[in-house]
Amino acid sequence: MKEKVSFGPDKRAWKPSPLVGQIVLVTTLNADGQSNIAPKSWISMMAFEPSLLALGCNRSHWTAQNILRSREFVVNIPGEELAEIVWSTPMRPHPRPVPSVGLTPIPAQKVKPPLVEECKAHLECVLNHQLTFGDEIMFLGEVVAGSVDKAALESRDPYTYLKMVVFLEDRTFGVIEKGQQIREKTTPPSIKTRPG
Ligand SMILES: Cc1cc2nc3c(=O)[nH]c(=O)nc-3n(C[C@H](O)[C@H](O)[C@H](O)COP(=O)(O)O)c2cc1C
Repeated sequence: MKEKVSFGPDKRAWKPSPLVGQIVLVTTLNADGQSNIAPKSWISMMAFEPSLLALGCNRSHWTAQNILRSREFVVNIPGEELAEIVWSTPMRPHPRPVPSVGLTPIPAQKVKPPLVEECKAHLECVLNHQLTFGDEIMFLGEVVAGSVDKAALESRDPYTYLKMVVFLEDRTFGVIEKGQQIREKTTPPSIKTRPG
């Protein structure tokens, strides 16, 4: 039997982290209509119908306050090349509109917060539900529109183009370098509709 080393429930002490969170840049609108940008990694899809994602956010953050007020946000998917900007963004003072971190706001299809042009894919969300746990708030956002760089669809492996990044631990991230297909049709019918 392999030897196991136990660790406690505090995620901050997990090294290596056994769970990854995709790094995204969330855009929202401040009360005066100016944009706000912040990196987040506590995010995952939760349901097909409606198309729901969950986003975990500190309640005091501008992102959380903006979502509670305007009920809209955009999840922008950066590639590896934006990692330095992702990590430096929280160090910049508020107000923190998209151009203040060197990125470009462009109009979304269905919501008012902007997309970030330099990101490679975008999910436009409307707040469906929220759950509060102490200082943290969990938003359930309904995805009402999505978009991706045309170049991703034209490349041999869209995942190599996207180079999506995941949070591992403080100042440490991982990169999805390529998509890999299962060669044999081995997936049982019961899980065919529920990708990981
Ligand atoms: C890679 C990365 C991932 C982060 N993920 C989250 C997260 O999932 N939830 C959260 O509340 N803060 C997260 N943070 C911290 C916020 O981005 C940071 O506190 C930021 O200044 C909040 O900005 P806001 O007040 O404009 O929302 C993350 C920071 C980094 C660098």
